[in-house]
Amino acid sequence: MPIRYDETNRIFQIDTATSSYVMQVWNGFLLHLYWGAPLGGGDHAYMLRHRGRASFSPAGPGSSPWSMDAAPFEYPTSGTGDMRAPALEMLYADGSRATELTYAGHEIIMGKPEIPGLPHTNCERPEDAGTLVVTLEDTVKKLEVKLFYTVFEGYGAVVRSALLTNRSSEPMAVLKCLSASIDYDCGDYDEIHLHGSWARERHLERARVTHGIKLLESRRGASSHALNPFFALVAPDAGEQRGEAYGFALLYSGNFAASVELDQYASTRAMTGISPWCFSWGLKPGESFQSPEAALVFSSEGLGGMSHGFHRLFRDRLCRSPWQSKPRPVVVNNWEATYFDFDEAKLVSLAKKAKQLGIELLVMDDGWFARRNDDTTSLGDWFENREKLPGGLKQLAEKVKACGTGFGVWFEPEMVSPDSELYRAHPDWCLHIDGRRRTLGRNQLLLDMSRPDVCDYLIETLSGILEKAPIDYVKWDFNRNLTEVHSALLPKEGQGEAYHRFMLGTYRVLDTLTKRFPQVLFEGCSGGGGRFDAGMLYYTPQIWTSDDTDGVERVKIQYGTSLAYPLTAMSAHVSVTPNHQTGRATPFSFRGLAAMTGAFGYELDLEKLSEEDCAEVSEQTANFRRWQSLLSEGRLYRLRSPFEGNEGAWMVVSEDGKKALVSYFCFEARPNAPLDRLRLTGLHAEALYRSEEGDEFTGAQLMNFGLHLPETKGEYTSAAWYLRTK
Ligand code: DGJ
Repeated sequence: MPIRYDETNRIFQIDTATSSYVMQVWNGFLLHLYWGAPLGGGDHAYMLRHRGRASFSPAGPGSSPWSMDAAPFEYPTSGTGDMRAPALEMLYADGSRATELTYAGHEIIMGKPEIPGLPHTNCERPEDAGTLVVTLEDTVKKLEVKLFYTVFEGYGAVVRSALLTNRSSEPMAVLKCLSASIDYDCGDYDEIHLHGSWARERHLERARVTHGIKLLESRRGASSHALNPFFALVAPDAGEQRGEAYGFALLYSGNFAASVELDQYASTRAMTGISPWCFSWGLKPGESFQSPEAALVFSSEGLGGMSHGFHRLFRDRLCRSPWQSKPRPVVVNNWEATYFDFDEAKLVSLAKKAKQLGIELLVMDDGWFARRNDDTTSLGDWFENREKLPGGLKQLAEKVKACGTGFGVWFEPEMVSPDSELYRAHPDWCLHIDGRRRTLGRNQLLLDMSRPDVCDYLIETLSGILEKAPIDYVKWDFNRNLTEVHSALLPKEGQGEAYHRFMLGTYRVLDTLTKRFPQVLFEGCSGGGGRFDAGMLYYTPQIWTSDDTDGVERVKIQYGTSLAYPLTAMSAHVSVTPNHQTGRATPFSFRGLAAMTGAFGYELDLEKLSEEDCAEVSEQTANFRRWQSLLSEGRLYRLRSPFEGNEGAWMVVSEDGKKALVSYFCFEARPNAPLDRLRLTGLHAEALYRSEEGDEFTGAQLMNFGLHLPETKGEYTSAAWYLRTK
């Protein structure tokens, strides 16, 4: 068991393949001692050091002087001396808010307890994981807090969550309950996060942590395009392959808050969890509330090592779909090919063409139902538009399959158009506040997913469709953020629960449908990547990365996304030029190479492609099939950052180091550019590698000297090298 308890010093040590995590019960409090490279054995009691004098920082209980404000708490609270941002805030029946948590007990168990209703990491057999559960309590208010720490054999991650239970005889309310908090007693850090916007998701930003609080938050009811629920703290000299990197990823798709605070003593507190904004949760006597999980990955091999830890964890221990481990089909999606203007005949001829070019599945996007000919109408009316699909979904699916491809359908289950039969029948089923305007976003309203009746209706409606037609794939979209977040079924004192209940409702619908239809490949989407998070990945093993399929933008978006999320999670398509979002024209090969490092497909009218482009599609699909298992199971190394210059490059190496695919992209033309070499990594120094062109290199040559980069002629040069040991 990788979890140890030193009874004499009351020290817990959690060991992973690449890290140790150490805590101590001291003076009744659970304090954080260490998280970093593996420690092995030894007595860690010397690690705890107290600031003797901390002016204006209230003293903690006990005979020797110590300051609550300077102690490294494992799960910090407020109101009794720690003045930094807390992980937990409560409101008690007497109106007071102070909470003080002391150790009450612990257990170390095999396996991992389920978290009902929330996405969670999992193990097939109890012996694959161990969980430390530390129970803390506020003895005055009778609040019990169980902190869960799960570690998986062979993985470098610790997964945390908190479970609160009201053990008193009076009601209380949770105002803030984060999933994880780490107090670093000293050290300088850079903070890295992923920010963006629609069509520009997950760009990487890095800055030194300075005094005060840096808050990354979503108040949109979705994890959002703007900020992703992942961040990292790294040593200032850390790069892709070396240096200490601490990653935090929240398994949640709604409002989140992640913060980094550098305090007056230069201690750093990093936290993540559900945003406390507009949040409260009532706990009657005996009731519980559990936070989502947060995955914490440490690597002393830089950002690359950290990403590798997340990729393996998410692929093996988070994604629940049977599709996680199966080769995904190469798809063609008709959205940018036709938008709303299509019918059965067009889709069938696209499927025929797709089959000829080696594409395996046709996805019918938005516009197939009710009167949906633009985005002003019909969301919620999940029945076929008979003008477009005269024989309905079943006939279309059968015809598409007869062409030799699979068939997928787009839905946007959580939404309703005011102009729809559903809305006319149930105007109270949307989020709304009586007397206020019902704010539209893309002409649509949100169904109140906190209502069990709405969720049941969706489950039955979507099940009916998936039962009636042979559908292989569902694209699950979500095209606006939440407003008027108020539920007709919740009492006024329960309205603080609406945002989280919305998420729990969505998760219930996803959970039921993905379990009921395990053969269906579910793809997440939210106007591109507005809900690209580890919560969604539990249900949908791939997510539409961005509506922006421009080659250059995709190199940036996919590079940033790869910090936390595996390549298999990133749905990536080749579209036409000029690109519909940026107007830029990049070569077909450039776009293809970028898209291939993801769940690959096309988003264009195959029937309008030139013969030359068709030949290229056939070549790309054939290449992808040869490289697919390497790309989905291999280890990613980022070689050049598109956020630092005019190029992007990465490579994927098989676990045994015998195969590698190197991808290089150069954006602007550089007249008379210097000769340049791309140094590789992760290979066996002594092995002899052969490229598809027949060139041979030793691993040492490739890693130390590198590959000659092509001379750039014109804009947007790309190059790929597929290397195998002889
Ligand atoms: C937004 C998605 O990101 C697009 O791919 C497409 O499915 C549209 N919605 C359809 O409305």
